[in-house]
Amino acid sequence: MADLTTTYLGLHLKNPVVASASPLSKKLDSVKRLEDAGIGAVVMYSLFEEQITHESLALNYFLDRGTESMAESLTYFPDLGNYNLGSDAYVGLIAKIKEAVNIPVIGSLNGFTPGGWVDYAKKIEQAGADALELNMYNIATDLTQTSQDLEQVYIDLVSDVRKQSNIPLAVKLSPFFTSLPNMAARLVKAGANGLVLFNRFYQPDIDVETLEVIPEIHLSSSEELRMPLRWIAILYGRIEADLALTTGVHTGEDVIKAAMAGANVSMLASELIHKGAGRVPELLGEITRWMEEFEYDSITQMKGSMSQKAVADPAAFERANYMKALQSFDNR
Ligand SMILES: Cc1cc2nc3c(=O)[nH]c(=O)nc-3n(C[C@H](O)[C@H](O)[C@H](O)COP(=O)(O)O)c2cc1C
Repeated sequence: MADLTTTYLGLHLKNPVVASASPLSKKLDSVKRLEDAGIGAVVMYSLFEEQITHESLALNYFLDRGTESMAESLTYFPDLGNYNLGSDAYVGLIAKIKEAVNIPVIGSLNGFTPGGWVDYAKKIEQAGADALELNMYNIATDLTQTSQDLEQVYIDLVSDVRKQSNIPLAVKLSPFFTSLPNMAARLVKAGANGLVLFNRFYQPDIDVETLEVIPEIHLSSSEELRMPLRWIAILYGRIEADLALTTGVHTGEDVIKAAMAGANVSMLASELIHKGAGRVPELLGEITRWMEEFEYDSITQMKGSMSQKAVADPAAFERANYMKALQSFDNR
């Protein structure tokens, strides 16, 4: 029987199929369904910086009526609709889930500016989370802010969060860095034990009739796997951190590709949202059958076997391969 076990952030997982942060972790029942279906671990949906900050501004207002702070806080706070519970309810839900399941549960904080909200790293640890994921989702729009300044903000944030808690810390980052390997190395130096590649930014659309910007999230497809796959393959064995691949994992073969590139785990949201927890045993079956057919004994055996360090042609992950890819069109 193929051995699917893996490790991630010092945790032992029965397989590399992990539920990525999504609404699937908003209810104890759905986390239990994922556990029963055989998932390796679950990342909680995120607690947002804005949400924590808003709650504390609102509290200040009620403690100190007559100031203008409430109006300010309301304009600052983006409308999260029904997506999130309050901060304390979030921490309470982690504690409840941890009591009810045996798989690792990873808390998730989402923000990008320094501030008191990072205290929640400690609260999430106290609630029993096995690890913490920090999602630094930010769209840089300021013409005067340099990439160097912005990168330092991220690094400082990781250091701040690191100081708040002792559980393993993974950083979920965007692919949009000029020098991703350098940024990855600096994040690890600042205290990240793992990197989650990549954040999938929602892309707003424009409704030309109502003249509105539409904030819709579209689910991913396997096509989107290629970008994180390349960067996992490039980083594997070159930084002292575990690697999680997220974006575009939909099939057992996608999970195998991720492991071969060097990922400790594959994190799925779209596929599980679309098909439900019942998809987990199918995925595990696909992985096992493939491993048996191609005579792999374990996930560990295939890990990193197609990383840039391991392949015969390392340039395949770089610019040189672009020309080859273009030529393949000429030859059609
Ligand atoms: C509906 C929805 C909600 C999500 N919520 C979060 C979140 O709260 N925090 C987070 O870090 N990522 C969140 N994500 C991103 C996913 O965790 C995942 O990284 C991304 O969707 C790429 O994986 P996929 O291709 O399997 O969907 C969300 C994704 C979806 C589709």
